[in-house]
Amino acid sequence: MPINRQITLAARPVGYPKESDFNLVETSLPTPGPAQILVRTIYLSLDPYIRGRMSAIRSYAPPLEIGDVMVGGGVAKVVQPNHPGFVKGEIVMGMLGWQEYALSDGRGLRKVDPQAAPVSTALGVLGMPGLTAYFGLLEVGRPRPGETIVVSGAAGAVGSVVCQLAKINGCRVVGIAGTDAKINYLVGELAIHAAFNYKSVENYYEVLNEICPEGIDVYFDNVGGPITDAAFRLLRPRGRAVVCGQISQYNLEQPETGPRLLSYLVARQARAEGFLVFQFSDRYDEGLRHLTRWLQEGKLKYREDIVDGISNAPRAFIGMLRGHNFGKQLVKLAAP
Ligand SMILES: NC(=O)c1ccc[n+]([C@@H]2O[C@H](COP(=O)([O-])OP(=O)(O)OC[C@H]3O[C@@H](n4cnc5c(N)ncnc54)[C@H](OP(=O)(O)O)[C@@H]3O)[C@@H](O)[C@H]2O)c1
Repeated sequence: MPINRQITLAARPVGYPKESDFNLVETSLPTPGPAQILVRTIYLSLDPYIRGRMSAIRSYAPPLEIGDVMVGGGVAKVVQPNHPGFVKGEIVMGMLGWQEYALSDGRGLRKVDPQAAPVSTALGVLGMPGLTAYFGLLEVGRPRPGETIVVSGAAGAVGSVVCQLAKINGCRVVGIAGTDAKINYLVGELAIHAAFNYKSVENYYEVLNEICPEGIDVYFDNVGGPITDAAFRLLRPRGRAVVCGQISQYNLEQPETGPRLLSYLVARQARAEGFLVFQFSDRYDEGLRHLTRWLQEGKLKYREDIVDGISNAPRAFIGMLRGHNFGKQLVKLAAP
């Protein structure tokens, strides 16, 4: 009897999630009904937003309930298509959940061209994180050649693409990340102008001020907290803070009371704007076309951090929230 292994939410985390907040369950393989497709997941994507869905608080999406299959994007192979729009063996991408097999009615599934790039990239550089970088930087940040762009979470799935898109746009790029290996990658492999490890620095403002003596034109914020406080103080006149994520805050048991820095926006006539990648969903094709071309031209590089097997997904997810991932965090569930 074939089985489907799934990871479900066992308990709402307090602070950082623990492995006991997840359950590994075995269910029977679902049978697709009329107009349904059975897919087998190849790669599962572990993303920071999933932490928010584990809490009871409603954000832009409803929270998971205890016992629900964990939410997440995946790349999968069509196994049994009872649907005229899909054929067996095709590769698709969609919100498939933390499970080895999933049923879909086809809505929200995007076909992935395995000739264009390795299929795993549909969850990273050619997927939601890449699109977040593309629209966040280009539409919200609006960088101009010669400007100074500072990126926090710079070595991650979103941040590493932001750094490279800023370079493609002729900007001076400064990255902030949490290990020396990530800093070496940013400066060596991605050839950005400067980077520093925030874990080996006492005063973020002093370091940023030294690297950006004329200030920051665009601050791309993936992390929030004290790093963002420092960057805010250095925004140039008409500067832009692109508020993409606040990962330093996602696992706090009590919200931080930070310095109140909005007056910097007044004095510098600067703009801070949050965004969700979904607001650009009608332009995903455009974004993917550009990202694919830059990838194929070698202007866009990427790293992936892949663990094997669904039972390792909770540990990898917790590790990603703590910065143990080096590149887009994926779980491999089956051979491509
Ligand atoms: N607005 C949107 O539509 C949208 C879409 C996708 C993602 N996001 C946001 O974008 C950000 C990056 O997501 P991603 O998928 O690219 O993840 P990622 O950067 O690949 O992985 C998360 C990284 O966050 C860093 N981090 C963790 N705790 C931190 C802390 N206290 N201070 C500073 N950095 C910390 C770690 O890197 P270090 O080793 O450098 O600490 C870790 O590797 C997240 O905030 C996410 O919520 C927003």
